[in-house]
Amino acid sequence: MKIINTVAELQAALATPRQNGKSIALVPTMGALHEGHLSLIHRARTENDIVVVSVFVNPIQFNNPEDLAKYPRTVDADCQKLASAQADIAFVPSVEEMYPQPVNDVYHFGPIEEVMEGPRRPGHFSGVAVVLRRLFDLVQPVRAYFGEKDFQQIAVVRNLIEQIHYPIEIVACPIVRADDGLALSSRNMRLSPAARAIAPRIYATLQSAVERSKTASVAEVKEWVLDTLRNINSDDATLINPDTHTVFDPEYFEIVNDTTLQPVNEWSDADGIVGCITVWLTGVRLIDMIRFR
Ligand code: PAF
Repeated sequence: MKIINTVAELQAALATPRQNGKSIALVPTMGALHEGHLSLIHRARTENDIVVVSVFVNPIQFNNPEDLAKYPRTVDADCQKLASAQADIAFVPSVEEMYPQPVNDVYHFGPIEEVMEGPRRPGHFSGVAVVLRRLFDLVQPVRAYFGEKDFQQIAVVRNLIEQIHYPIEIVACPIVRADDGLALSSRNMRLSPAARAIAPRIYATLQSAVERSKTASVAEVKEWVLDTLRNINSDDATLINPDTHTVFDPEYFEIVNDTTLQPVNEWSDADGIVGCITVWLTGVRLIDMIRFR
């Protein structure tokens, strides 16, 4: 596997495969790689000739400087994992290499960014779009791979592809979970052992919500999920948020049409319905989702 830090080297490495008509895949990541990322790389490996994995913590998609500063950076370990997963190229650029000029581009995604993460992270999806367009321009992949944990991001990326008319297939891959159900995330490494031990209650609650959806309305299920999480107790004081006096602080739980991402009122409102949740636990923001229909 080649580790490449510059745009010029990346172009040189891709020139021959491109001329020879090889299919090139892109797996964009921000590093701190876990089995979830590796599942994307394994899938890309089986479907393409060349697999490029970008490892770049994209500053312009962070609306919170503290979140950017705390984002885990583990490049050496990441490159080892990528080599084991048989990626062909790890593209690890600096911020200056990715953005030699100040970035002025702004992308809009209409109603799909007016819900859930959109209003809570102003500028986030535009920042994601800027970096992805840059990566798409450099790599010119036939396919790009994304994890379904960031469900709204996939809808945004599909919309971006429509806006810029690039012939790139967006491949959405299922969430990879730990044995206890917690969705794998780079942020999990910021959980204390006690927080990590209780975190699976998020997915357990979502699973129970699917059971409840067989007899309860959308509004009832929504309220039940939020109440259930807020009422989970612990004797461990380190888990309690001193402001809210709760262990879990859900930021939102929305039950939405899986294509438009607009909230549904009835289970019959759409063929595909998912529940998307963001929960704070000991200062760590965790995201998960589950399919209802
Ligand atoms: O999902 C992520 O890790 C990032 O948003 C992405 C797609 C790599 C863009 O920086």
